[in-house]
Amino acid sequence: MTILVTGGLGFIGSHTVVELIKNNYEVVIADNLANSKLEVLERLYQITGVRPIFYQIDVTDEALVEEIFRKHKFAGLIHFAGLKAVGESVEKPLDYYYNNIVSTMVLSKMCLRYQVDKFVFSSSATVYGEQPSPLREDMELKPRTNPYGETKAISERILIDTARANENFAVSLLRYFNPIGAHESGLIGEDPNGIPNNLMPFVTKVAKGLLVKLSVFGHDYDTVDGTGVRDYIHVVDLARGHVRAIEGLDTGVSIYNLGTGKGTSVLELVNAFIRVNGVDVPYEFVGRRSGDVATCFADVSKVERELGWKAELTIEDMVRDAWGFEQGGE
Ligand code: NAD
Ligand code: UFG
Repeated sequence: MTILVTGGLGFIGSHTVVELIKNNYEVVIADNLANSKLEVLERLYQITGVRPIFYQIDVTDEALVEEIFRKHKFAGLIHFAGLKAVGESVEKPLDYYYNNIVSTMVLSKMCLRYQVDKFVFSSSATVYGEQPSPLREDMELKPRTNPYGETKAISERILIDTARANENFAVSLLRYFNPIGAHESGLIGEDPNGIPNNLMPFVTKVAKGLLVKLSVFGHDYDTVDGTGVRDYIHVVDLARGHVRAIEGLDTGVSIYNLGTGKGTSVLELVNAFIRVNGVDVPYEFVGRRSGDVATCFADVSKVERELGWKAELTIEDMVRDAWGFEQGGE
């Protein structure tokens, strides 16, 4: 069984490729290297002993995508390729709408044309907007405050409508909470260009001395210690969730939260990092970051019940592996 993985050299995609190969799938990767490096392909080989077929293409390019669908018979696809920086999406809305929505449309169209019946999509908890946690899949989607979030909500809509109109086309919409950590080998992980926007890669850069200190955005939230609370999930658990989603896809549309169901504050995460890794992470409190919610964590009962999937790795595993990757990196 061959699976097309778009964005397969990126953070979540690369870990999912490892888990797919471990589960005896053949993998074809399509990635334009907009936010990843070719070197990841070599790392995937080091981890798995298998060299996935790789196409360096932009998946918004219909003609190039069609060539791949002509060459391979896919049992399904997982669509990770996308731009994901919330702040940048406000500065460059057209880049985000074009890249994230056209890619979903092109890939859906090719799936219908070449009878590829299983489509797994990387969505985000951001589609819930500001609603009380735990967030459940049947909650109404609230307006997002940034174009990135809109691209996820619109892509979900496109895939739902396409599945409704085509009974063989089965779609799984996976709403990720906060993926962090890295493969235990330290060979692959999260490697953002420039100064990281997200907490965990910022913390590892501070710990390594590449950045002076962490700014903690807000300490006056109504949370355990005043700092923002999120549902951090180990990227390897998340990757395994994709294998279960592909296996469990049958007909229609399935929507699942992929999280742990537990909230962790910024300070709890930073303190776990310091404790587990025995390194210092200087930080200071600054004002809230615009658009941030106080608390966001998942209700994970649906995915557990229907797919038999549950996150197993702990916050300690996440901070240890994130640090392992940072130290193994350049
Ligand atoms: P990433 O940037 O590490 O990986 C995305 C990959 O897609 C990169 O390798 C990039 O080069 C590639 N890509 C982007 N546009 C492309 C295009 N048009 N054609 C071909 N390749 C393209 O990001 P990630 O963290 O691995 O996220 C994967 C997916 O999960 C994204 O869709 C993202 O929006 C979604 N998601 C991520 C998070 C998170 O916190 N990391 C949370 C929720 C949802
Ligand atoms: N934070 C800091 N300092 C930093 C970075 C983050 O204090 O330098 C705090 C944030 O205020 C928040 C928490 O750490 O309380 C997590 O922030 P991240 O930027 O790591 O993650 P977000 O929850 O803001 O966003 C992530 C993804 C989005 C996705 C969203 C879904 O980056 O793409 O989860 O919930 F939409």
